[in-house]
Amino acid sequence: MLKIGVIGTGYVGLTTGIGLANFGSTVMCLDINNEKIQQLNLGALPIYEPGMDELLRDNVKAGRLTFSTDLTFGIQWAQIIFIAVGTPQAENGKADLSAVEKTAELIGKSLNGYKIVVTKSTVPVGTNEMIRAIIDSFNANEYEFDVVSNPEFLREGKAVYDFLHPDRVVIGVSHPRPLDMLKQVYRPLYLNEVPFIITDLRTSELIKYASNSFLAMKVAFINEMARLCDTVGANVQQLAIALGKDGRIGSKFLHPGPGFGGSCFPKDTAALTVFAREKGMPLGLVEETIASNSRQKEFIVHKIKGRMGAVSGRRFGILGLAFKSETDDMRESAAITIIDQLLREGAMIRAYDPRAMENAKKIWDNHQISFGRDEYDTVQDADAVVILTEWNQFRNLDIPRIKSAMRESYFFDFRNIYRRKQMEEYGLIYECIGR
Ligand code: UDX
Repeated sequence: MLKIGVIGTGYVGLTTGIGLANFGSTVMCLDINNEKIQQLNLGALPIYEPGMDELLRDNVKAGRLTFSTDLTFGIQWAQIIFIAVGTPQAENGKADLSAVEKTAELIGKSLNGYKIVVTKSTVPVGTNEMIRAIIDSFNANEYEFDVVSNPEFLREGKAVYDFLHPDRVVIGVSHPRPLDMLKQVYRPLYLNEVPFIITDLRTSELIKYASNSFLAMKVAFINEMARLCDTVGANVQQLAIALGKDGRIGSKFLHPGPGFGGSCFPKDTAALTVFAREKGMPLGLVEETIASNSRQKEFIVHKIKGRMGAVSGRRFGILGLAFKSETDDMRESAAITIIDQLLREGAMIRAYDPRAMENAKKIWDNHQISFGRDEYDTVQDADAVVILTEWNQFRNLDIPRIKSAMRESYFFDFRNIYRRKQMEEYGLIYECIGR
């Protein structure tokens, strides 16, 4: 059985660790954050992710999964080391690689035999070569090692499913030596004929940024179409269905919303455009995607004001704060920009999210906005209801109850989950996007 160390227990690291244990390897998840490791050792996940609890328990019970803060021990114990530490956005928009650099240094100092070092973290082109150079410079006994780029494409909220059923596995190498062992790591996928894209380090690094930028561009595109549909009286939903039927376009990621957010699209589009500019090859489409996404959030506020007039002193019941459903993650959520703008204009906000309340309370305190106990408590005496996240439980609201709880009757559905006719029949002033 392969022994694998996974450094970093964020979304990617935890999913990788638990997923690889599930594939049959013995995995040690490593993190310098003592609190997180303690929590994991007690069987509790630091994130909300459907289906992950069970997989964690099963694999710990089977003896394939352990957690430790002793990174040196873990590195020396493992045959393969996955780097899955964060690469957050630095002030200048670039990826902050300090955690990756520190990890590479520790790996170099700890080497005690041949190891494969696999980078899961999203890193700019050239980083794996840098990792190799750092490890080498601390590798006093000159042990052999290989560096591999193996980007992860999982979505939050679907992390476990995506890890176990990927569309493809991308592996970047500078030498074929580690390939056999990596195929063994991913054996169940390999046997299931999941495509393996074997390429060089730089191409592999860029594939991840290109994927996320393309998807972000697709969302920004449909949001622009929604804005145009609104302006000229066309229907973006039917437009998206018609576009999607063309196999060359595909139907996924054509749902208009309040603007994309999350830990990947904003950060990766920013990092890629800054990097490309630095290399003298600006990426106009990706730069415009970022700008277009900001305009979408402005458009949302504009739309609210277009319907209600001034928002000062008006009460808003916001349903949904997370950047999308099935996650408690608030990072770069469109809700932050939209709520902050409404607050600046004097609106009063009461908000509710099924999972993201704790994270939301780190952004706004009780003086800035208030938090509802549930949907109905949140819209009590509100002048307007605003849906920002497409949680399933918002799809079946008791609309008459909502209507009678409200002071005025504006209902803004920015995930297009209700039908205009039905809402107007309930006496609501209904607005969505692009329909
Ligand atoms: C994304 C990529 O999908 C994943 O492959 C990568 O590994 C990490 O980044 P994630 O950030 O978890 O995953 O969320 P995703 O489901 O892609 O949604 C990103 C944002 O786009 C969300 O704010 C979502 O609401 C928005 N979106 C997505 C839309 O507004 N419309 C769509 O049709 C799809």
